[in-house]
Amino acid sequence: MKKIGVVVGTRPEIIKMSPVIRELEKNDIKYNIIHTGQHYDEEVSEIFFRELEIERPDKYLDIGSGSQAEQTGGAMIELEKTFKEFGTDILLVQGDTNTVLAGALAGIKMGLEVGHVEAGLRSYDYRMPEEYNRRLTDHASNMLFAPTEENRITLEKEDVWGDIYVTGNTVIDACIQNLKIAEKKAELDFELPHEFILVTAHRAENVDDREVVKNFVEVFEELDHPVVYPIHPRAEKMFKKYDMLDRLKRNDKIYLVPPQGYLEFLILMKRCEFILTDSGGIQEEATAPNIKKKVFVLRRSTERPEAVEAGYCTVVGTKSDDVLDHIQDFDEEKWDPDSCPYGDGRASEKIVDIINKMSE
Ligand code: UD1
Ligand code: UDP
Repeated sequence: MKKIGVVVGTRPEIIKMSPVIRELEKNDIKYNIIHTGQHYDEEVSEIFFRELEIERPDKYLDIGSGSQAEQTGGAMIELEKTFKEFGTDILLVQGDTNTVLAGALAGIKMGLEVGHVEAGLRSYDYRMPEEYNRRLTDHASNMLFAPTEENRITLEKEDVWGDIYVTGNTVIDACIQNLKIAEKKAELDFELPHEFILVTAHRAENVDDREVVKNFVEVFEELDHPVVYPIHPRAEKMFKKYDMLDRLKRNDKIYLVPPQGYLEFLILMKRCEFILTDSGGIQEEATAPNIKKKVFVLRRSTERPEAVEAGYCTVVGTKSDDVLDHIQDFDEEKWDPDSCPYGDGRASEKIVDIINKMSE
């Protein structure tokens, strides 16, 4: 049997890999989990292993925060050593973070089989480090697990050398597997307002920009309902730098709370009126049949056009007037989105089936 390495480093990778890890367990396939340590605070890393009941990583590489090159290069060096130590044959990376590119590059140069979960997404926004990460990873991978047909077409047009498999997105598996558990076990440590709007914002091209941060604060202040905003560590740092954190904290309509566990966040998505976010994963989760929420995407573009076409997401930019106009135009009574474009919750089953065949 070939040895499988599952590489993770940040919150969304742990969440989206969790159904794959569960499926590897179910099939009695041996694997190691390698955590680069790109995310290290309990609330954006450890909590997910605990809540999702997956094995703790076999190794942490303690890469931590740093510049793009420090994180990517540092992770590559440590990953190469770790793949050698574990005798890894096949490795799996998920998404578009620096951890993902480091894993794919280190692995392919060692002659390993690299599988990219969530292949073929493109925002065509070249301000985003993620756009380079996902594009380069796709071109360095042997197995491309594309969530949708649209992603497959993108990969074919770019003439990637690996094999493409359309699988759906594993985040839908995660939503389906965990919402019922969340309804029993989630522990919110603040009182949820009766009606509220769920907000997240953390993208570098947004929160590192003073003007955008100011616009976001204006939007949150103008909304008709209370806002629940679990604030990402990057955003917290930048809002503070731009003197906006205290202004948010002083507003009693804005519930500024720490990053939430996955079970808690599922409950927030389920109960909110609608969502304002620049997150990638949340755009997809909103389309899950058991979540089904409208999302206003606080960005100039999205690499998830399927969620827009299906009626869930609207890209509203980052200027306060534009965002508020779009929200005002939304009529929930008339809102009738298509079914989920990201699969039926069996993406991880399909992925592991392919890995299983490869590893014999
Ligand atoms: C990273 C990913 C992004 C993903 C996000 C998921 C890249 C280029 N970006 O962005 O695609 O959407 O993770 O949440 O890979 N910090 C802490 N504690 C932590 C981790 C980070 O305080 O545990 C702070 C540090 O100040 C750090 C900053 O957040 O400098 C940014 O962290 P980093 O991992 O570089 O990028 P993210 O913005 O988290
Ligand atoms: N999420 C969470 N707690 C939070 C905010 C988000 O568990 O407080 C989950 C969310 O449900 C989704 C993932 O984190 O599965 C998205 O991560 P993030 O927005 O950090 O990254 P992106 O998807 O933009 O790369």
